[in-house]
Amino acid sequence: MCGIVGYIGTKQAYPILIKGLKRLEYRGYDSAGVAMISAGGDLNVYKAKGKVDNLIEYCGDKDVSGSIGIAHTRWATHGEPSARNAHPHYSRSHNLAIIHNGIIENYADIKTKLQANGIEFRSDTDTEVLVQLVEYIMVKKNLSLLESVQVALHQVVGAYAIAIVDKRDPCQIIAARKQSPLVVGIGENEFFLGSDASPIIDYTDKVVYLEDGNIAVIRLGEELKVISVLGEEQDLKVKTVDIDLGQIEKGGYKHFMLKEIFEQPECLKNCMRGRINVEGNHVTLSAMIDYHRQLLSAKRIVIVACGTSWHAGLIGKQLIESLCRIPCEVEYASEFRYRNPVVMKDDVVIAISQSGETADTLAAIHLAKEQGAFIYGICNAIGASIPRATDTGTYIHVGPEIGVASTKAFTGQVTVLSMLALCLAAERNTIPPELYQQIVKELTLIPGKMEQALKTNGQIENLAPIFTYARNCLYLGRGYNYPLALEGALKLKEISYIHAEGYPAAEMKHGPIALIDSEMPVFVIATRDRLYEKVISNIQEVRARGGRVTALVTEGDTQIQKFADHIITLPDTLECFQPLIASIPLQLLAYHIAVCKGKDVDRPRNLAKSVTVE
Ligand code: M6R
Repeated sequence: MCGIVGYIGTKQAYPILIKGLKRLEYRGYDSAGVAMISAGGDLNVYKAKGKVDNLIEYCGDKDVSGSIGIAHTRWATHGEPSARNAHPHYSRSHNLAIIHNGIIENYADIKTKLQANGIEFRSDTDTEVLVQLVEYIMVKKNLSLLESVQVALHQVVGAYAIAIVDKRDPCQIIAARKQSPLVVGIGENEFFLGSDASPIIDYTDKVVYLEDGNIAVIRLGEELKVISVLGEEQDLKVKTVDIDLGQIEKGGYKHFMLKEIFEQPECLKNCMRGRINVEGNHVTLSAMIDYHRQLLSAKRIVIVACGTSWHAGLIGKQLIESLCRIPCEVEYASEFRYRNPVVMKDDVVIAISQSGETADTLAAIHLAKEQGAFIYGICNAIGASIPRATDTGTYIHVGPEIGVASTKAFTGQVTVLSMLALCLAAERNTIPPELYQQIVKELTLIPGKMEQALKTNGQIENLAPIFTYARNCLYLGRGYNYPLALEGALKLKEISYIHAEGYPAAEMKHGPIALIDSEMPVFVIATRDRLYEKVISNIQEVRARGGRVTALVTEGDTQIQKFADHIITLPDTLECFQPLIASIPLQLLAYHIAVCKGKDVDRPRNLAKSVTVE
């Protein structure tokens, strides 16, 4: 996600800030900016879209002097990636500047109130709302910066890590956090700030990790002070950082892929935040409100995507058809674009893409658009080419995905498709209200169940060496779990280079069963659902041919262990959400097998994260 850097001391801030921003580049971002208070008392803010190098170029002829400053790399959540929306943001008077990570959920309400008081906004961000609110409180109530921040933070709902400076007080940075990390580095008569320790470790190993709800008062020449939002002074827990840079970037995980697998419960909460109400019984998607007529008049939905996003689309098809009773087709974007497809005016085309830059998906969108379809995007990268080319859409908000093997984007895509299907079903009255509420509620429980599923990591790590010998593997599933079988196989192929195929379990007897022998690992998703008994029969067919079965089962299952060599137990959920839970052990399996084989998990051979060519 976004990155924060700050400095106050006796050195020039700009080079430290820029070096810090570069350190945070691994997190992915779309724009960057810096603010310094010069010796003459000017608060200079400079911002640029794209890489930190663009910012450096932009600052080339500017006054970057000053020994206090804050800097930011942005991963857009509100407002397109642009210099205008990049941080830092000035307050109305230009006395204050703020940087912020996280999402202010009630920003729209606060913005409306501030606008009613004559405050004009210069960006589309939730962040600017916060700095304007702080200044509004400062002026209206005649409070100090610290007091105003305290009052403002009481009014905001959401997650934040912020740093704020006031040009009238060039010896102070106020920083605060809630659900978004923030670290203060303590040097000799200088302080550093970072969203993790990577921008700090070159200068000091003494750090304080701010805790949720705490505010740091960083004043030059004074001890660091940490207080709660209520103003109570907190004990300073100074820690010594003893980790290398690579470790910090990966949050202590060995690879980005593992980090991203473990991030999924949090990612799905972010994905649902502001879309499912606090009672957990109603979903609202802004696209549904803004384009109600176009979406409700869909006679058919066509999903176009590639790779993992296509697998998410296959799950989306089942959700849309069973909950909304709208015919839905799923197409490989690369095939769709070249096969002269029939596209009708009342079609809604859903384009799914993590990167938002996949060339085939983009071309499929253009083709469908030319033929009059309404285009809905489901993307992760804000402001990328695909969200720009679509009529509307929903971001999955899972943060930058760095590992080439897609993990958290897949579950984010399935979550958005679930929310979309629920919205459409409610509007079309295709499911009873009680069932609608039950499904929404269950969706809100998925992050907790994912946490449980992640506990299989140790077991899977121990199992992985058993499979490294394999040259081929088969993944079987039925219903909602069939696309997951495809996804499990894709994960294994791309990072371990073991050939793997996913199949609908019952289809096996029409061909692939010929491949089964004692050297062929077969992974079966056999969670409890309508087709459970049938999947047991499919497992027996594999066993009868000497196949080695590893089954993913629902907790409490007593039947499958009789037929399987290994079982991995998962929490129960509704059938339609089983792929969200069962994807975790399959991702972990691919990961640990690839690690055992010594493969470059995050950068597998021949693959690119963003496929911008045909
Ligand atoms: O960025 P996109 O979702 O459009 O990318 C589509 C595929 O290239 C992508 O899902 C690919 O299959 C992944 N490497 C799978 O892990």
